[in-house]
Amino acid sequence: MLTPALSLRHVSEFAADVRAGLTKPGQRELPSKYLYDEVGSALFEAICVLPEYGLTRADTRLLKKYAEEIVGRLPSPLHVAELGSGSGKKTRWILEALSRRQMTYYYPIEISPHALAACEKELGRIDLVSMVGYEQPYLEGLRSVAEGRGEDDHLLVLFLGSTIGNFDRDAGEEFLRELRESLRIADALLLGTDLEKSVDLQLLAYDDPAGVTAAFNLNLLARINRELGANFDLSCFRHEARWNYADRRIEMHLRSTRRQTVRIPAASLRVILDEEETIWTESSHKYKAEEIPGMAARTGFRCDAQWIDEEWPFAQNLLIAE
Ligand code: AVI
Repeated sequence: MLTPALSLRHVSEFAADVRAGLTKPGQRELPSKYLYDEVGSALFEAICVLPEYGLTRADTRLLKKYAEEIVGRLPSPLHVAELGSGSGKKTRWILEALSRRQMTYYYPIEISPHALAACEKELGRIDLVSMVGYEQPYLEGLRSVAEGRGEDDHLLVLFLGSTIGNFDRDAGEEFLRELRESLRIADALLLGTDLEKSVDLQLLAYDDPAGVTAAFNLNLLARINRELGANFDLSCFRHEARWNYADRRIEMHLRSTRRQTVRIPAASLRVILDEEETIWTESSHKYKAEEIPGMAARTGFRCDAQWIDEEWPFAQNLLIAE
C-alpha cells in the first residue's frame, strides 16, 4: 500500500508530467510509462497473447529453447536481477536452468507492487531459487542488488520483452551505459530486442482488429480522468499506430476527432485540441540484429551471442560487461 504522502507525490509528479507533455510546442505527448496502471497492465497482458502481437511469444520461445545454453556461457556463482519483472513467466526457464547447477538468488526490480506480487506468485516456489523483490526504479534497484552481493558473485541482468525499444535510441544507450556502471567485468546482460519486419505486420501488431491495443492506448486518457480529475471524452479520440521510417519505430498516437477543450484540474491545465491533432503516447523502436554488437561496444559490453526466433524476428542478445 502507498502511504498518503507517497500517493500525493505520485499525483503531483503525474500531473507535472502530463502538463509538460500536453503543453509541449509542436507535437503534444504523454510519457508511455503512465500506460501501466492496474487496467493498463491487465490490457498489456492481453496484448501479449494476441495472435497479431508475436513479440512476447518469440521472447518466451527463445528463452525456453536456449536457457541452458545461455546460462552455460556464464560464470558461477551467478545471481539473476530482472528489470521489470512483469508477470515473471518467461524468466522461469532461466531460473530452472540455473537451479540445476547452483543455488540462485533472483531479484525482480519493479516499481509496481502489483507486478512484484504477481511475480512472487509465479516464481516464488522454484527449488533452489530464493527471490528478493525490489520495489524501486530499475537502475536504483540494480545498484542496491549489485552493492549487496558477495565478492565472488556474478550477476546476470535480464532486460526482456524489447522494453529497451520504448526508449529513444540515444536514451536507450545512455540507460545501458548507466546499467553497466553497476556491473563487474564478466557480469552479463540478456537484452531482448524486437527486430524489423514488414511494415504491415508491425502495424497490425500495434493496431489489432479486436481493439485491445486501442483500449490500452485510450486507457491513458481514462487514467488521467480517474487520477487527475480530467474530462477527456474517450469517444472523441481514435487510436493510431504509425511506422516512422526515418527512426525505425512504431509510434502510438491518440487522434482527436474534433476540436475540443479538455480540463485537467490537478494539473491546473486547460488544453484546446484541434480536429485531427494527435497526442503521441509511445515509441517502440525496432532493431536489426547486426546493430546490436555496435550498441554493446558503445555502452561497455561485448555481444557474446545472439539467438533469433524463426517465426517472429526477435533477438535475445547476450552482452558481457568489459
Ligand atoms: C512493453 N513494450 C515493449 C511494448 C512494446 O511492444 O513496445 C508495449 C506495447 N505497446 C503497444 N503494444 C505493446
